[in-house]
Amino acid sequence: MRKHIVAGNWKMHKNNQETTALIEEILAKKGNNSTEIIIAPTFVNLLTAVEETKGNGITVAAQNMHQAEGGAFTGEISADMLTSIGVKTVILGHSERRAYFHETDALLANKVDTALKHNMRVIFCFGEELKDRQKENHFNIVEYQLRDALFHLEKSDWSNIILAYEPVWAIGTGETASPAQAQEMHKFIRTLIDKVYGHEVADNVSILYGGSVKPDNAKEIFSNPDVDGGLIGGAALKADDFLAIVNAF
Ligand code: G3P
Repeated sequence: MRKHIVAGNWKMHKNNQETTALIEEILAKKGNNSTEIIIAPTFVNLLTAVEETKGNGITVAAQNMHQAEGGAFTGEISADMLTSIGVKTVILGHSERRAYFHETDALLANKVDTALKHNMRVIFCFGEELKDRQKENHFNIVEYQLRDALFHLEKSDWSNIILAYEPVWAIGTGETASPAQAQEMHKFIRTLIDKVYGHEVADNVSILYGGSVKPDNAKEIFSNPDVDGGLIGGAALKADDFLAIVNAF
């Protein structure tokens, strides 16, 4: 049975003190919920987050990592560095990495392989741009992204894959995909995975929706059969908003 997951992608927000304060507020208010809570602070705050959340049922994820095991890559972070401080989940392929840092699906395939080699869980992001949807090419774009970055994997690899469909035109814009649009694409994705990998993988992979999820739209989006949770940006930076989304299931 696939899990409900709500992950907060903090992007380049919260210094070390603000990270501690937000985590303490989330812990104080979170209650008991079967939904898995993931938070992804910036690199410099990951160890603080791991220490603050230890034993409290919150998973800490990195927002990125390099594909190499180590070397002359100034400013980069390796899988081993992340797992050495207890970070075993990583977001890869976010549209901002693709846009600003020119990450291609081929590069992301290498990053995914490195993360899986270190037994990390990957939250793999993908999604079409507005021009693609306007041309009704969004299903093709999503299929290419998945095929080029993930469809080389073995069936057994998929237990460590979480998918995050994030239509680029909905990220940070307030333009959320409608629940029907989200369900339509999530169903397409699950059907595609079923064709390539079979029912077991397709039925068990969690597919998150990301793109302007807020407390007032989360319940309707999450009520769809193929939406297993959300990858949250702006609303993850306030404990009450983030927990309202966590509790939307
Ligand atoms: O990774 C999640 C993020 O891209 C969504 O951002 O602010 O639209 O929730 P936001």
